[in-house]
Amino acid sequence: MTETYRAWRVEREGEPGFGALRELPLAPLRLAGGVLVQGAFAGVNFKDALSAAGRGKIVRTFPCTLGIEMVGTVEASDDPAFAPGDAVIVHGFGLAAERDGGFAEFLQAPADRVVKLPDGLSPIEAATIGVAGYTAALAIDAMQVNGWTPQAGPVAVNGATGGVASLGIDMLAGLGAEVHALTRQPDDGWLRSLGAAAVAAPLAVGERPLERAAWSGALDSLGGPALDALLRTMLPDGVVAAFGNASGNGLPTSVLPFILRGVRLIGINANSPLPLRRRIWPRLGADLRPRHAALVGQTLPMAELPRAFEALLEGRGRGRFVVDLRA
Ligand SMILES: NC(=O)c1ccc[n+]([C@@H]2O[C@H](COP(=O)([O-])OP(=O)(O)OC[C@H]3O[C@@H](n4cnc5c(N)ncnc54)[C@H](OP(=O)(O)O)[C@@H]3O)[C@@H](O)[C@H]2O)c1
Repeated sequence: MTETYRAWRVEREGEPGFGALRELPLAPLRLAGGVLVQGAFAGVNFKDALSAAGRGKIVRTFPCTLGIEMVGTVEASDDPAFAPGDAVIVHGFGLAAERDGGFAEFLQAPADRVVKLPDGLSPIEAATIGVAGYTAALAIDAMQVNGWTPQAGPVAVNGATGGVASLGIDMLAGLGAEVHALTRQPDDGWLRSLGAAAVAAPLAVGERPLERAAWSGALDSLGGPALDALLRTMLPDGVVAAFGNASGNGLPTSVLPFILRGVRLIGINANSPLPLRRRIWPRLGADLRPRHAALVGQTLPMAELPRAFEALLEGRGRGRFVVDLRA
């Protein structure tokens, strides 16, 4: 086995550029114990792009390997719960913030941060899902826990071409929901091919605190006025799952959707505890399994990571960039 491995690193806070590919010794990872994972694929997230550009104050420990997620196979484990060859996913829990992340040929992680891939998902499918698809699944699960059903009426998904949103559209349509994709992009058929029943421009915020009610559920990637627009247009007892701030951190709104229509606004945090991960990932291999992962994911080698970072920072990513860690 090799004595070194390649990883996409940032060396210090505020360094120019997007980081670089480095060769690192493998021995410290072996000595650290836990689970040693040989990387196969890793999805690229907006957070990674921010870190690569030295923004967001996400990386706390320098130098650091970027990448908040990784799919791979277990190379060695000192925990009997994992055996060499097991296909696993690791995401969040301080990856690419307090410890080295997943844009690497190898990753060391404590066993209680590793999740086995569910039956029914290949490594490339799992990486295309990654944190984005996990977030979409958490959001849909939370909507269901709060009474939403696919038969309750149309569902709105804003920022529709984004990673979370596009996978969410695929999953919601797979459940049988009527999905309305809201996007700034022209309709070239891609969102419909994922299962959207309709594609429309972002909602305009009207003058009235309550507008014509249209949605039984909604996935919000954007925050700000876009989330306000969803809240004003929810059907009675409608459920909005909010996980993103792509257009802002603020939320200018009124209490009227909540007190006159019983609208529920649910917050979603993908850096969730292990028991929740172990409940949601099997759903991603079963009833929430995206049917069009191959249309959502775009694979690239590690050396081309800057192309993905730029696209995400400029808001022109579509679906998911997935790094082939062996290329
Ligand atoms: N809470 C959590 O744990 C969690 C987990 C994952 C992601 N997130 C957050 O969720 C959001 C979506 O993540 P993602 O990975 O799907 O990001 P993404 O791939 O970059 O997609 C975001 C989408 O939002 C739209 N958009 C981007 N910038 C915008 C702007 N300035 N104004 C209006 N629309 C804009 C674009 O869609 P259109 O061009 O189609 O309109 C874009 O494709 C991000 O804010 C991310 O940080 C949170």
